[in-house]
Amino acid sequence: MTRVFSGIQPTGELHLGNHLGALRNWVRMQDTSEAVFCIVDLHALTIPKPPGEVGAATLRLGQLLLAVGLDPERCILFVQSHVREHTECAWLMECTVSFGELRRMTQFKDKSERADFISAGLFTYPALQAADILLYDTDEVPVGEDQRQHIEITRDIAERFNSRYGDTFVVPRAVIPAAGARVMDLQNPTAKMSKSSESPQGTIGVLDDPAVIEKKIKRAVTDTETEVRYDPEAKPGVSNLVSILAAATDRDPHEVAADYDRYGPLKADTAAAVIEMLRPVQERFRRLEADPAETSRLLAVGADKAREIAARTMDRARRNIGLLAD
Ligand code: AMP
Ligand code: TRP
Repeated sequence: MTRVFSGIQPTGELHLGNHLGALRNWVRMQDTSEAVFCIVDLHALTIPKPPGEVGAATLRLGQLLLAVGLDPERCILFVQSHVREHTECAWLMECTVSFGELRRMTQFKDKSERADFISAGLFTYPALQAADILLYDTDEVPVGEDQRQHIEITRDIAERFNSRYGDTFVVPRAVIPAAGARVMDLQNPTAKMSKSSESPQGTIGVLDDPAVIEKKIKRAVTDTETEVRYDPEAKPGVSNLVSILAAATDRDPHEVAADYDRYGPLKADTAAAVIEMLRPVQERFRRLEADPAETSRLLAVGADKAREIAARTMDRARRNIGLLAD
């Protein structure tokens, strides 16, 4: 079976874009592949955080991922810092990637321009990400378009290591969803829905109250026409609502658009579908929130399984490099 690996940082709240663009696919992949999902808490440290913040955010994200449907019986779900092999392997990656390659990463350029403290970890971030992926003999990495460069550099690192020391790592490929999977900001429909949006009204949180979801969708920006059509170029606001409704009900956006001739009913049905889709997620989250020890237990089970695979890969890497056995 295809081994799939992906990671998500414990920063910010999950929104509808994360849910429709990434997490829902993760849930489906549990049944079609051997899926490994990691909460990458060490990556969150590349930007300094007050004590305790990352741990609390990690637990909350764990609860959310379980609530959306990741099932520890059908996938491996774990926390990066619980499996020490990630930092160990990251050193091997750092010694395999060049300074010049890391310097070309656009995420580093963006983030370092905005940061007032540019940690060395922010610069070597892709080496830790390569370790995450390569430790699990990963075939496919489902990620957003913004991560394409990090998967390319992971492939380059794997190939270089293999040619230096012999066959050690599987060379993975990125799996990037089609543009249709992008959810746009409700207030500014030409920008992606994101946690850093200027208007909180433009972003729907996975844990937003039904009444809040309804209000945000009712007030979503449309246009001065009245015709409902799926045409993201000419009608970004309306098309965003159509594609949210289509995604939430597993239908084709053109077909959905044909059912409506006014914006009011489109908005009402979109709100209802999103509320219905998120209701079980929110219910499961409330139950998990009431019992944090259960989530910690499930994450520990995931870490045990992950460690077994990662330790084997690290042994192979050490042996192939020819480090003196301990
Ligand atoms: P981020 O929160 O940007 O780190 O993204 C986490 C995951 O959610 C990545 O796989 C992104 O591609 C996906 N994602 C984030 N925002 C959106 C969006 N507006 N539409 C679709 N997918 C998104
Ligand atoms: N860099 C990814 C992001 O910002 C998170 C990540 C870390 C990741 N390690 C990974 C994604 C390994 C896929 C595979 O979204």
